Amino acid sequence: MNNPAAFPEDLFQKLEEFQQTHLLTWWSELDPSQQDELVAQIRQINFAQIQRLYSPGSSADSEESPAQKAERATRPATVVRLTDRQSDSSESTQAIAAGKECLSAGKVGAILVAGGQGSRLGFPHPKGMYPVGPVRQTSLFQILVEQLLARAKQAGQPISYFIMTSDATHDDTVAYFQQNQNFGLAAENLFFFKQGTMPAVDAQTGKILLESKHRIAVSPDGHGGMLAALKNSGMFDEMRKQGIDTLYYHQVDNPTAIVCDPEFLGYHLKRNAEVSVKVVSKRSADEKMGVVCDVDQKTQIIEYSDLPTHIAEQTDEQGQLLHWAGSTAIHVFNRDFLEQIADNDDQFPFHRANKKVPHLDASGSQVTPETPNAIKFERFIFDVLPVADTVLVYEIDREREFNPLKNAEGQDSPATVQAALMRIASEWLSACGVEVPADCPVEISPLLALDAEELKSRVPSDLTISGPLYLGE
Ligand code: UD1
Repeated sequence: MNNPAAFPEDLFQKLEEFQQTHLLTWWSELDPSQQDELVAQIRQINFAQIQRLYSPGSSADSEESPAQKAERATRPATVVRLTDRQSDSSESTQAIAAGKECLSAGKVGAILVAGGQGSRLGFPHPKGMYPVGPVRQTSLFQILVEQLLARAKQAGQPISYFIMTSDATHDDTVAYFQQNQNFGLAAENLFFFKQGTMPAVDAQTGKILLESKHRIAVSPDGHGGMLAALKNSGMFDEMRKQGIDTLYYHQVDNPTAIVCDPEFLGYHLKRNAEVSVKVVSKRSADEKMGVVCDVDQKTQIIEYSDLPTHIAEQTDEQGQLLHWAGSTAIHVFNRDFLEQIADNDDQFPFHRANKKVPHLDASGSQVTPETPNAIKFERFIFDVLPVADTVLVYEIDREREFNPLKNAEGQDSPATVQAALMRIASEWLSACGVEVPADCPVEISPLLALDAEELKSRVPSDLTISGPLYLGE
């Protein structure tokens, strides 16, 4: 193919070098604005990287696949177990004080990853907009923002929220926050930043797929794309300006995650960790959770899709799962540690996923595949773990803190998440001496109380509940 008129020469050479000139098949049919769009998309592609990631036989960037690594996985050597904290609370008490001090000093920022859509839920909006509150149908976003606001109020210091969106969720998310006056969060403490994309390639040929004649088929680059996105959007600079050195990271799907939990922050600081992760005991070998394990003395997370079944099912002498520690994807990161990795981005691996990607075939007809035809490339944020010198693994109470919304029905569905929110609210009320009739929907706004202790000073003990009740500020 010759370089078509008006297509930049430098880019054409790139396309030739990497055998991707098919992207220009319909160039002469495009109007000028479509041509501009295609050029802009092509300019963003790192062709050498795509070629390296695609190369058959390579497990994305690394020599060894996660499944091969998993053969050598052992339990994480050090875990702060829940039962140990419950039987001796002295370190916890100190940790809570240290965490609160750090929050009050304004050193903590919170990161929410919200690039995913509610597609598994059959919800055609960003997942964070899902109305999950059992009484007022409050959304995941609202519950999480209210937690952040309440924690900031306790600390006497605003906490900035850095919310990662994707092409698929950005506009709807920003508009939703605007319509709701940011749920009370001051504009100077709310930052949206958008993750990047990666092109999808044909699994057989490595050719980049076209979604239409002037558009490349791209998908979000995974939550690991957060590092490049934080850097490129100037968010690391903003954090430094604000004096934020510790980042509390969590996912949009879990409304019971304790946002900016002072105890977890305190343990992270006291144990001099660069990265910390909250874990729970997996319900079963096949539960879809990344497992926290050690490989070659390095603590890391192996994603469920990469963990061979025979390893996931291994048990110890007591018949307990060897790889019991499921990642809740709640982390604390040191900002400077993440910045160093963002600056040396090349070492940060990609994972390959075989997916069905609609595209144009060579004749220009739309193809909607029924079996996986393409490879998508994604980065996972937890791949920073093995780079850290010190990782803290911290077990939490699953019932209290891990109730994610993943599926339309069954486990981890709207029904189970609502039930969990009601159960937690009932437990807190009963700790205040207030009885909740069985199956009576109750919802407590985080603005009223963040735990049972706080609730005691907010509700009268002679409160009687006879029907659905929302307890707000
Ligand atoms: C995820 C974890 C898994 C963990 C589990 C706990 C991954 C790959 N796996 O599984 O190890 O045990 O949660 O609940 O994360 N997201 C983005 N951009 C993206 C992709 C995802 O922002 O490109 C966000 C989503 O909005 C969501 C979170 O990351 O908040 C998790 O993504 P999801 O694909 O739902 O992961 P799970 O399979 O549930």
